[in-house]
Amino acid sequence: MALEKFYLTTPIYYVNDVPHIGHAYTTIAADVLARYKRLAGYEVFFLTGTDEHGIKIERSARERGVSPQEWTDTISEHFRHLWARLNISYDDFIRTSQPRHKAVAQAVFQKAYEKGDIYKGLYEGWYCIPDETFLLESELQGGQCPICGRPVEWITEEAYFFRLSKYQDWILDHIESHPTFIQPGSRRNEVLSFVRSGLRDLCVSRSTFSWGIPVPFDPSQVIYVWIDALTNYLTAIGYGVDAQTFDKFWPANIHLIGKEILRFHAVIWPILLRSADLLPPAQVFAHGWWTADGEKMSKSTGNVIDPGKLVEELAQRAGASLDTAVDALRYFVLREVAFGLDGDFSHTALVQRFNSDLANDLGNLLSRTLTMLQRYCQGTVPQPPEAESAANALAEAAAKLVPDLDPLLNEVAFHRALARLWEYVRLVNRYIDEQAPWALARDPAQRRQLDTVLYNQVESLRIIALLLFPFMPHTAASMWRQLGIQDEIATQHLATAMVWGGIRPGTPIQPSVQLFPRIEAGRPLPAAERTAAVAAGPTMEAASVTVSFEDFQKLDLRVGRIVTAEPVPKANKLLKLTVDVGQEQRTVVAGIAASYRPEALVGRSIILVANLAPRTLRGVESQGMVLAAESDGQIVLAGFDTPVHPGSKVK
Ligand code: MSP
Repeated sequence: MALEKFYLTTPIYYVNDVPHIGHAYTTIAADVLARYKRLAGYEVFFLTGTDEHGIKIERSARERGVSPQEWTDTISEHFRHLWARLNISYDDFIRTSQPRHKAVAQAVFQKAYEKGDIYKGLYEGWYCIPDETFLLESELQGGQCPICGRPVEWITEEAYFFRLSKYQDWILDHIESHPTFIQPGSRRNEVLSFVRSGLRDLCVSRSTFSWGIPVPFDPSQVIYVWIDALTNYLTAIGYGVDAQTFDKFWPANIHLIGKEILRFHAVIWPILLRSADLLPPAQVFAHGWWTADGEKMSKSTGNVIDPGKLVEELAQRAGASLDTAVDALRYFVLREVAFGLDGDFSHTALVQRFNSDLANDLGNLLSRTLTMLQRYCQGTVPQPPEAESAANALAEAAAKLVPDLDPLLNEVAFHRALARLWEYVRLVNRYIDEQAPWALARDPAQRRQLDTVLYNQVESLRIIALLLFPFMPHTAASMWRQLGIQDEIATQHLATAMVWGGIRPGTPIQPSVQLFPRIEAGRPLPAAERTAAVAAGPTMEAASVTVSFEDFQKLDLRVGRIVTAEPVPKANKLLKLTVDVGQEQRTVVAGIAASYRPEALVGRSIILVANLAPRTLRGVESQGMVLAAESDGQIVLAGFDTPVHPGSKVK
């Protein structure tokens, strides 16, 4: 019987800049879904790629003195490199500058033209001549070009237009009658009201630049980048050249995208497909956006998180391999924030998840189990008594995992799926604590019970590894190997592999390798972490290193009195404080704006780390750090219960 297919895509990413955490987020999510579907027995086609045409890319290339093709070759390679680093298992990587794509974009355009859906008209708008860019009224800054600051002109030129308006009723009906077509539901409502407000015809060609695919019947124009980009989803599965593959995979099961490009995918794309006599994709899922320490990531602010660097820093901090750090990142981005909502990227939260969920819950479970097997069973999986092997709490709980996880993953609710899996991890840890195998081992009469408990532990770990594999492929494969299982984890199928009892008694386990070394508080923080100059930090759990009294004395802690407090422009977490420390006044930048209004701070005594090397944050030099605690998401300043003179030493 033919396997059921699953076709999923990420957006194709622009090559005018190197990849960042936002691109990695969508791609990791798609990878998890692709791996899960393969495990569930589907024939999966997972597509990603790069979007390479357009004026911005032409300009980026020109600025560097290279041809657009050379430039796109370089940046596109950065994306492939990063995906290899992040263990992304895509089936195809499409580039819109490839010849295979030109033919498809042109065919779709031609078809719409022949249908009468594309007509020639006049494009009018604000135009920046040096930048060769059309601008919306709303994009202008003080009436001038936001890119170069020069005056813009109102120009009129010939261009082709697509009759979106003709399809307004059809798309409305399609969205209304297919409740899961646009997800999450809140986004669906946004799109519905956008469509109801009336669709205007779309300009689908440009004549002001040449780095693009020519309009097939008018080479003086190139196809508008969005039409060029969206049709990539057809090219990769053989539209026009391989009918068998195309018919198998189209329509796509899901396009995973960021929320900012939802209208293109949920309105323009289905209309274009309809014009080409093709079915719309089954679902478009728009996830939220990551900010960095509360702020939008942008090159100009300099706060863009580079996933490659992040992984290197994390590996270094944890003393772990890059693959381990990659898995921790994959886990973190999908566990921390509901897919669909916006999230703020915090290094502190990453370290907390690393230590609590990964090192404590999961890592310890494996290492304590393997140690017990070495100690009590000469390093092999024990043989449990027949009758007791399947009738136990862990086996029963394991049987509920796929029925619970499968709908969650079909809803793309990664965070809930992981939370559900962790309930099981914690259940196994509790089971061990309750059964106390170390006590059973002291009594030879309890041998059968000991074997049963240990077998259940190992078998549970096998099940956990299997279900973890889509999320953390390296970690899961490592668990699998340590449990002594010979078959490849990547080629397993849930239907057979989830049956309790899969690990054979007598299997020799492998030496235990620590999955996630705990990150200790004393290790240096990555640069982005240090930007919030507040010592609200690690939990007691994480703060396990001891320092000598001499080391402690190196800190110059002083009482300070806040003289002025004001927001730092474009940094919604930071406040700039002037602090009286007795002999002098210091400027200190503190990440406390979410918890304190500036005016409420004036006159207040605080504790300042006065001999910390100065740091420049958002252009302001911070000459010290204010001590505070983080509690229930609030930042609370450390202080005194009676007035103290500014400058007094705190010991
Ligand atoms: N080339 C178009 C997409 C064409 S698809 C037919 C494009 N490219 S992009 O390089 O700008 O990538 C946008 C995508 O990157 C978003 O849709 C999202 O998947 C991801 N992200 C970019 N920044 C992001 C965040 N800050 N947070 C989360 N994801 C975001 O648009």
